Amino acid sequence: MLNDFHPICHEFNENEHIVICQDDALMQLKKLPANTFKLLVSSPPYNIGKSYEQRMSLNDYLEWLKEIIAEMFRVTAQNGSIVWQVGNYVDAGEVFPLDIYFYPLFKELGMRLRNRIIWHFDHGLHASKRFSGRYEVLLWFTKGDMYTFNLDSVRVPSKYPGKLHYKGEKTGQPSGNPLGKNPSDYWQIISQEWETGRIEIPNVKSNHPEKTEHPCQFPIELIERCVLALTNEEDWVLDPFGGVGSSVIAAIKQNRRGMMIEREPAYNDAAKERVSTFQNGTLKIRPLGKPVHQPSGREKVAQIPGQWLDQKQRSLL
Ligand SMILES: C[S@@+](CC[C@H](N)C(=O)[O-])C[C@H]1O[C@@H](n2cnc3c(N)ncnc32)[C@H](O)[C@@H]1O
Repeated sequence: MLNDFHPICHEFNENEHIVICQDDALMQLKKLPANTFKLLVSSPPYNIGKSYEQRMSLNDYLEWLKEIIAEMFRVTAQNGSIVWQVGNYVDAGEVFPLDIYFYPLFKELGMRLRNRIIWHFDHGLHASKRFSGRYEVLLWFTKGDMYTFNLDSVRVPSKYPGKLHYKGEKTGQPSGNPLGKNPSDYWQIISQEWETGRIEIPNVKSNHPEKTEHPCQFPIELIERCVLALTNEEDWVLDPFGGVGSSVIAAIKQNRRGMMIEREPAYNDAAKERVSTFQNGTLKIRPLGKPVHQPSGREKVAQIPGQWLDQKQRSLL
């Protein structure tokens, strides 16, 4: 029975609900049964020199992940999906959008791209020699043409729910869907969601309630939307680069079964801790759909610094 407390297992067992496995992704994937996981969702190391990765050439990096992606494909259920979340690899100031490089690796396996989702956020590094990066990409592939897609579970409020058909047989009847509209392939920050209908998900930074010591963890709500749309209750979700367990939490929160693989012992421990605190109801989670804080304009940081005002005033003289 799902929704109950479940033990955390360390290796896959189809009768269990939560698996947190400390291992190398490729080695562990090879041990898993074929056609089993309804959703594989992951953000691989980006090869940009984070504390948990060793930088390699772009070619070596892609070769390494090619084998992992082939194993991911093997373990994906016939009606299942892979969601691959990536940003940019940057070398000597040159930007290489990773989704462009990864697309052929999935396509060669026969996977079909259903959406290239833009995940936009407002915060990040301020670039000085190019425009600051403010989005990453989620490539959603399916293994076949028959696949789970629960649109009604992830609809967002319509901007104009009162819109009516103005011609034809249905004149005068509401033209939208009472459950809301399709959230589109542009997922932004939640503050305006109720006004604009956009999915808005902040990335996890230091003032976020979910922040751990991991340098780039998923916001749980980002994965929750994928889990709700692409799986059904009791289905298995797998994250082969599981970090601190965000995908497993998103899965069990929505009554699915979750497994992750993570090489670093410290992140495994953090994941177990987070899953346990989630199960006992004490994990701080940003609720799905909660509006992002919007400055009122009265906060000190929202005001133009006095020094600049002086300069501006001087230039007006
Ligand atoms: C981009 S992070 C994923 C973070 C994760 N989405 C979360 O929410 O915490 C990539 C993770 O892959 C792990 N990793 C790197 N190489 C690995 C390997 N060969 N096998 C398993 N995990 C690996 C890193 O330690 C890191 O935690």
